[in-house]
Amino acid sequence: MSHKVAFSFADGKTVFLDSHAGELLLDAALRNGVNIPLDCREGVCGTCQGRCESGSYTQDYVDEEALSAEDLAARKILSCQTRVQSDASFYFDFESTICSASGTSLFSGQVTAVRQLSETTAILHLDASAHPGRLDFLPGQYARLKVPGAGVSRSYSFAHRPSEDNQFQFLVRLLPDGAMSNYLRERCQPGQTIEFEAPLGAFYLREVERPLVMVAGGTGLSAFLGMLDDIAHKGGCDQPVRLYYGVTDARDLCELDRLKAYETRIADFACEMVVMNPTQEWQGKTGLIPEHFDRTFLKANPFDMYVCGPPPMVEAVKRWLAGEHIESYRLYYEKFGDSSSGQPTA
Ligand code: FES
Repeated sequence: MSHKVAFSFADGKTVFLDSHAGELLLDAALRNGVNIPLDCREGVCGTCQGRCESGSYTQDYVDEEALSAEDLAARKILSCQTRVQSDASFYFDFESTICSASGTSLFSGQVTAVRQLSETTAILHLDASAHPGRLDFLPGQYARLKVPGAGVSRSYSFAHRPSEDNQFQFLVRLLPDGAMSNYLRERCQPGQTIEFEAPLGAFYLREVERPLVMVAGGTGLSAFLGMLDDIAHKGGCDQPVRLYYGVTDARDLCELDRLKAYETRIADFACEMVVMNPTQEWQGKTGLIPEHFDRTFLKANPFDMYVCGPPPMVEAVKRWLAGEHIESYRLYYEKFGDSSSGQPTA
């Protein structure tokens, strides 16, 4: 019996490896060529420390000089003393190059379908089943796709959880003159090969131990489809999950059936859709997303907030949190660095 373990680093790289039953995390890392910095190997120096972001584990011995009670409550770990008890992910606050870990690799997949979901959004399906073994990523991470014939790459979040058959989906914002948009509209055919680099990004789902607030702007929804897919696959979670999905125009909304289905697959899940520039037909919420946050709930309960979308939306959420003097939250966000490319930046 072994567990799948993800190691994420400060430069956004992620490495996946297997940890045998009862094996020390440090030994599993070294066995797989990930040279976590170490010194004492006895739980005293603190050199090998990281933080568990999801999954369960035990630690043999932790000297209070190495990690305080507060550190332990924050799920900080010593790799030389940690044994995982489930699939898990760990974060290390240094660059992957320090431990010679290059987690990102180049893969290729064949286009199986492109479907237009709304006036401004398409979904691209890739089949990478020729790749031996599961191509792993954390729910919320992204891939960098080489646009065939264009000599440029564009980044898109995985719109699903990892699967054994390596079938991938990405939401793509259709622009009047974007490299990927033009390719999908004009040249893309089933069977064509697209190369991509993955996994990338520090925006991924951590252990769900507090109410979850997800805030998606436009095709930022893709990362949340990946997270919701993962939560639903695991049978749901014991925390409320709220998704705020904002678009400029109601015609931009997509994947509504899929979002509806998560209401039955995740016990306490609800999606609020917010349209910035509504027409008369739109009966739902309007304006900016923060105007619709449940202020009373967020002031009374610690929560985790994930935000993915254009920079103005992310900044509006941050301003709202500061302006409301809300303090008990953990915020994770990813901005689209360039609206012409849909490229996420952590
Ligand atoms: S190497 Fe010293 S605490 Fe792990």
